Amino acid sequence: MKKKMYIQMFSIHGLLRHENMEMGRDADTGGQIKYVIELATSLSQHNHIEGVDLFTRLLSDKTLSDDYSQPVEKINDKCRIIRIQCGGRKYMRKELLWPHLDEYVDKTVKFIKREKRIPDLFHGHYADAGYVARQLAGLFGVPFVFTGHSLGRAKKEKLINDGLSESEIDKRYKIEHRIHVEEDVLKTADLIITSTNQEIQQQYGIYRDNKLPDFRVIPPGLDVEKFYPYYHRILPEKEASETEMYAQASVIEELHRFFIQPEKPLILTLCRPDKRKNISGLVQAFGEDKELQSMANLAIFAGIRKDISLMEENEKDVLTKMLLLMDKYDLYGKMAIPKKHDFEHEVPELYRIAAEKGGVFVNPALTEPFGITLIEAAAAGVPIVATNDGGPKDIIKNCKCGLLVDPTKPKEVSRAIKKIVVDSEKWKRYSKNGILNVRKHYTWESHVKKYVKEIRPIIAETNGEEMKVAVPSDPIGRRIINLNFFIITDIDNTLIGRDNTRLETLLGLLKKNRRHIGFGVATGRTVQSATAYLKKHNIDPPDVIISSVGAELYYGSDLRFSQGWNSHVAQKWNREEIKRLLDGLPFLKYQPEETQRKLKISYDMEPAKDRLAMIHDLLIKNKCRYNLIYSHNLHLDILPYRASKGKAIRYLSYKWEIPLQNFLVCGDSGNDEEMLQGEPPAVVVGNYSQELEHLRGSKNVYFAESENADGIIEALNHYNFIKKAGDQPDRDNSK
Ligand code: GLC
Ligand code: MG
Repeated sequence: MKKKMYIQMFSIHGLLRHENMEMGRDADTGGQIKYVIELATSLSQHNHIEGVDLFTRLLSDKTLSDDYSQPVEKINDKCRIIRIQCGGRKYMRKELLWPHLDEYVDKTVKFIKREKRIPDLFHGHYADAGYVARQLAGLFGVPFVFTGHSLGRAKKEKLINDGLSESEIDKRYKIEHRIHVEEDVLKTADLIITSTNQEIQQQYGIYRDNKLPDFRVIPPGLDVEKFYPYYHRILPEKEASETEMYAQASVIEELHRFFIQPEKPLILTLCRPDKRKNISGLVQAFGEDKELQSMANLAIFAGIRKDISLMEENEKDVLTKMLLLMDKYDLYGKMAIPKKHDFEHEVPELYRIAAEKGGVFVNPALTEPFGITLIEAAAAGVPIVATNDGGPKDIIKNCKCGLLVDPTKPKEVSRAIKKIVVDSEKWKRYSKNGILNVRKHYTWESHVKKYVKEIRPIIAETNGEEMKVAVPSDPIGRRIINLNFFIITDIDNTLIGRDNTRLETLLGLLKKNRRHIGFGVATGRTVQSATAYLKKHNIDPPDVIISSVGAELYYGSDLRFSQGWNSHVAQKWNREEIKRLLDGLPFLKYQPEETQRKLKISYDMEPAKDRLAMIHDLLIKNKCRYNLIYSHNLHLDILPYRASKGKAIRYLSYKWEIPLQNFLVCGDSGNDEEMLQGEPPAVVVGNYSQELEHLRGSKNVYFAESENADGIIEALNHYNFIKKAGDQPDRDNSK
C-alpha cells in the first residue's frame, strides 16, 4: 500500500477555531477561515491521509475568546489546529504580520523537531502563509502548495479604481511587499490551487511568472448536510430540528414585516454591502419592471447593520442608495431589507423558503471571483440568475442550474428572473440540476478526492528515486533536525592555519561521525570567500556557515540564506549613520569593499590608547545600536547589536532545539571570544592570539596544546565529544 501522507497547512493570521467561527468579525475573517477549517477537516478523513495540522497564529488578547490562546486544538483524531506565537500575542490585522513571519517559521521548525515528524507537504493559504510554507519547504526539501485566496496585484488594481493613491495603498496594505512575496511563491510552488478558471487568468495572469507553476482549479466544497433541499421537509423521514424550525419561523416572521403578499415567489439576494456587489442594479431591475413586481417579491439580505450613519463609507453609500431607490420606485410592501440575520442557522432556511415559494436567487455583482452563495442556493434547490463573470461562469457550466446575465443591464436581469419564475418546467429543471450537480462538483468530499490525486504524484516524486519536478535541491533542514551535536569552528588560524598536517585526520573524523555530528564554520570572511577557501583545502561544504562575523547565516551546500537570522539581527541597524560617523575618524581605514556587507561595516585600526573608547562614545552619543568587535589588533568590525558569531550559535541552538552544551566551539582570536564563552564547551587552539589569554581558567574553555586542526582533535578527546554524540539514541525523524 502507498504511504499515507501527513500535511501541514498554514493560514497565519489567526481567529481560527473549529466551532463557532467568527465569520465577518473584521476584514480578515472572510471566507478563508471557513475554507481552511473545512478543507483540513475533510482532508483528514481521506484514507490516504495520515494527518493534517492546520497552523495559525496564537492569540492571547483580552478582546478575544480564550479559544485562540490554546496551542493545540484537536478537531478529530487526524486533524488539529496548531497555534504558534509570533509578534507578541495581541491580535493584529494581516498586513502588520510581515515582519514577524520569520519568527513564525523558526517556531514551526521547533515544533516539527519536538514532534519528530516532517510533513510530506506544506500548504500555504494567502501570501503570508505562502511565504512561511515556502521557507519550510526549502529547509526540509518537501514540496509546497499554494492557495492565494486573493492576490496583491488584483487588490491593488481594485483599490486604484476606487480612487486610492499608490502610496496610500502601500502604506495601509503593504501591497508592494505582498506582491513581491507572491512573485517568489509563484516561482517556487509545486502546485497552485484556485477556485475558478477566471482566477488563473485574471488574478495570476497579471503576475510576471504566471506561466511557471502548475495550476489546478479545485472549487471549495459545501456542507451539503446543512444546505439540504427544500423538499426534505415534506418527506416523512426528515424532521427538522427545533433550532432549524426556530430559524425558519424567524425568517418567515421577518419577511412578513415587509411583504403585503408574502406568498408570492421570492427573489433573494445575499451579500456584503459592497459597491461591487451591485445591489442597486438589482433594485433598479426590479423597480423598473412592473410585471416582475406583480409576480414576485424582492428580499435583500445585505449583512448586519445597526446604524447606517455610523458605518464605513462604502457600506454607508451602498445602503443609502438602496433605501433611496426603494423609495424612488415605491417598493414598499414588495421589498424586504432586513437589518440582520443569523448566518449559521437562518441562511440555509432562507434558501429553502425561497425554493418553497418557487423563487430565484440573484447575484448581480459586477465581478464575482467565486460566489459561494450561488452554490448554497443551488444546493437547497433555488434556481439562480448570476453575473456573467468568474465563479458563476464555472458554476452555471457545471450545475446547469440557472442563467447568466450582464448585471449592468437591468432589463436583462429582470427578463432572466421572469423567464424562470413563470416557467415551472424550467424552474423545476434548474432546481433539480442545482441540487444534484452541487453534490457532484462542490462538496468537500469531491474537493479532497481531486486534491489527493493532485498532490500524490508531487509527493511521490520527492520521495522516490525518480525526481521529475524541481524539488528544493538540498533538504538541509531534514539533516539538521536529526542532529543533536555540532562542531562550530572559526576558519582562519583555527581550522586552517600554519600547521595543517592533521586537517585531513580531523575531516575524516567528521565524515565518520556525520550521522551524529553537524559541522559548521563561523568566520569573519564573507560567505563567498569562506566557501572558496574551504574548497581550496578540500573541505566539504559545511552544514552551516556563520559568515561576516555573525552578520549572516547560511545552510547547506546550496548556501540557503537564513532569512530568520537576517530579520532577527537587522533590527535597529542604521548602516549609513554609523558609517557617516566613523568615516570622520582619521585613524580608521575603511576595509576593501568586498569585505563590507549590509549588516557589517569593517575598518582597520592600529591599536592606540583611547581609540576604542572614542568610537564607543561617538556611537552611543548618537544613539546607534551596534556590536563592536576588535581582533588581531587590527580589524574593527561593527555589526548590528544582535549579531555575533556566538549569538548566531545560540540562534541555531534555539531554532533547531539542540542544547548549547552539545556545541563544540573552536577559535583562536578576538573575533571568536564571545562565542567561546558561556555554556558550550570551547577550545582555544594552541596558536591563539594574546587577546584570548584572559579566558584561561574560565569554565568550559579548554586551551589546547596543539595548533589548528590538531588542537580541535585534542579538544574532541578532552571533552569525549564523539563518544557522547554517538551514545545519543538515533534521532531519525524523517520516517
Ligand atoms: C575577516 C574579514 C574582515 C574582518 C576580519 C575580522 O578578515 O574579511 O572584514 O574585519 O575577518 O573579523
Ligand atoms: Mg581566526
